[in-house]
Amino acid sequence: MTVTILTLFPGLFRGYLESSILARAISRGLVGVKVVDIRDFAVDKHHVCDDAAYGGGPGMVMKPEPIAAALEATTAPGARVVYLTPAGRLFTQRTAHGLAQGRDFTLLCGRYEGIDQRVIDSFVTDEISIGDYVLSGGETAAMVVVDSVARLVPGVITGESLKEESFSEGLLEYPHYTRPEEFRGMRVPEVLLSGHHEKIRQWRLLKSVEKTVRYRPELLDSGDLSAEARDLAGQIRKEGDGHGRDEVT
Ligand code: 6GU
Repeated sequence: MTVTILTLFPGLFRGYLESSILARAISRGLVGVKVVDIRDFAVDKHHVCDDAAYGGGPGMVMKPEPIAAALEATTAPGARVVYLTPAGRLFTQRTAHGLAQGRDFTLLCGRYEGIDQRVIDSFVTDEISIGDYVLSGGETAAMVVVDSVARLVPGVITGESLKEESFSEGLLEYPHYTRPEEFRGMRVPEVLLSGHHEKIRQWRLLKSVEKTVRYRPELLDSGDLSAEARDLAGQIRKEGDGHGRDEVT
């Protein structure tokens, strides 16, 4: 699978693509990432890619011609073209799974106030936002999308890790511990040292449910939950989790 990224700031991707799991996936040929500088497709002398908005108002809009030329030069007909914008549909693990099915796709990164609507109307198949906050551009969002999609491509991470994630589907992750057994007076929970796999599984599920009740209670209503997790959530909610609702603001 090859992901093509169209951006005015190709340099932002260099360090990211050279590091960690993604670099390994690329060097093993499991995922290809092509970063394309939209500016290379502007035909005027100064390679201008933005202009004032029709109708007035502050900020600049990305001009349609360079983006259209870049898309036509790099994206096969029929491939998905995903425009990253705070005005898009919310990106979730489900969206990541959809993009990880093996077909090439293109990520189009917006800057400034956004791109000319006619490019969206002519080329864009999906408009995606990574959350309810505003970024200065789509580039960091593109990294989020590439990361979450690449790790779903078979072979990129172990099947064991993926299975573990699907076990905890719809819940936040349980806490993790490694050596030493005691750190500054705090001991690793005894059950994790017991070697009793079923007890460990139950403990982890309980911790996952507790954490979800505390931080993301709305996830518990998604319908993705196992009967066992649903029962635990019901008990914890009835008893109160004793933590209160300490939202960070
Ligand atoms: Cl995809 N782009 C920008 N500029 N801001 C965002 C976003 C995307 N998702 C959330 N905020």
